[in-house]
Amino acid sequence: MTLFRSEWLKLVGGSALGSLTLGFAASASGGQAAGGTVPYTLPELPYKPEALEPHLSAAVITLHHDKHHAAYVAGLNKALAGLEEARAKGDFAAVQALSRALAFHGSGHILHALYFANLAPNPKPASGALLDAIQAQFGSLDALIGQMTEACNSTAGSGWGLLVYEPMGRRLLVLQVEKHENQLLAGAVPLLVIDVWEHAYYLQYQNRRPDYTKAIWNVVNWDEVARRFAAAVGR
Ligand SMILES: [Fe+2]
Repeated sequence: MTLFRSEWLKLVGGSALGSLTLGFAASASGGQAAGGTVPYTLPELPYKPEALEPHLSAAVITLHHDKHHAAYVAGLNKALAGLEEARAKGDFAAVQALSRALAFHGSGHILHALYFANLAPNPKPASGALLDAIQAQFGSLDALIGQMTEACNSTAGSGWGLLVYEPMGRRLLVLQVEKHENQLLAGAVPLLVIDVWEHAYYLQYQNRRPDYTKAIWNVVNWDEVARRFAAAVGR
């Protein structure tokens, strides 16, 4: 994912406003507020783990957030520390592996932060400028949901379905991302992300990924998606 710093800050919480964009308290935004060399930290969940039941169980949410998301934060900090050490030593032999780790764990952290924030119990339907843009781009909300659901279901192995805003063409697109960082579109701003790694659903849905990707639409926080859309288009 390629983001300019201002876009990054909007999305990940580099300021109080950025934190609000993600729905996290500023204190839980992950250390990004200071920028520079401050380590990333795991943002708190914006709801109780059981809040999304029956669609996503408390056990799934807890394991996903406390273990898997936390591991990406740790991996990101480890990659950054390795790069800092390489610079200090003037030895860049490991830069290829460290760069891969940075992209993998960095995208993993950011996508998980977006994921947990774009879910909510009893969400309102999509509306307003976001719904207008969805209808203009995809024909209907149902068409978007159909395309994105199938993108999730057919992702090879582990990955994500993303609704993004592509600023050069000023359009909404659905991306099918493999792992956390492959098949991303440079400059595209993620608005809604659905995790289809097995750790996101296996404990509750076993191998029935389509049941998970059907259920998750009941807890999509369209208000949060709309807030990200407004920030992305500069409104
Ligand atoms: Fe995940």
